[in-house]
Amino acid sequence: MSQRQPVIAGNWKMHKSPAESRDFVAALPESCRRQEAVQAILCAPFTSLGVLQEALSGSQIQLGAQNLYHAPQGAFTGEVSAGMLLASGCSHVIIGHSERREYFQENDVLVNLKVKAALESGLNPILCVGESLGEREQGGFEAKILNQVELGLSGLNLLPTHAERILIAYEPIWAIGTGKTCDDSEANRILGLIRQHLARLYGQDRASALRLLYGGSVKPETIAAQIQQPEIDGALVGGASLEPASFAELVQLAGQYGA
Ligand code: 13P
Repeated sequence: MSQRQPVIAGNWKMHKSPAESRDFVAALPESCRRQEAVQAILCAPFTSLGVLQEALSGSQIQLGAQNLYHAPQGAFTGEVSAGMLLASGCSHVIIGHSERREYFQENDVLVNLKVKAALESGLNPILCVGESLGEREQGGFEAKILNQVELGLSGLNLLPTHAERILIAYEPIWAIGTGKTCDDSEANRILGLIRQHLARLYGQDRASALRLLYGGSVKPETIAAQIQQPEIDGALVGGASLEPASFAELVQLAGQYGA
């Protein structure tokens, strides 16, 4: 039986103005804001971090960003550093989401630099990995996923404290925003492979401590079965995290079935 705390991380992507973000938090039930069973995180656009830092203060819900740049400061027009995110109230940052890999040409080397910058600064990275439909149909895609994990974490002296801070999200690209969730047992199988690989790289203790998430069309109707899979410690949720009621339901169900 795992002792790992369940996680529900919302990825708002490029949605919500600051005012809409404030309204979202105001509409969350008090039970969601106060619950402690689940680590609940909202990863918002940079422009909403300021209002969310204020709106979420005093609640159990943590704040995350969706990207960062690895340099601490400097002439990098349009970029935001780990230190800036921390100062804006973030505890987490999504790194290497497939949309950033696809539309912004992020590769595993850059992803690795960002993971290191996050960890060194005190931010907790949510490292995303996953295969496209073509890669899945071709076969052998598991090796790509394990490679993304290994390269994303490469060069890290993975301390026990790091293992508790890093979240790895398996998000099959074909399941993102499509309404086609990956079979629960298949998602569990892939996360199991990731955990075995982490055990080979960093030892069983660290691998057992790391929390592994599934992402791709997760909804309140799917989460109970997903979170009961032994390797699925939580979910990274896009569309269903945009409505306060469904985000709150996801958190409640993850606590009920995942703890
Ligand atoms: P959906 O939940 O909308 O499929 O998005 C998943 C995702 O990309 C989360 O990072």
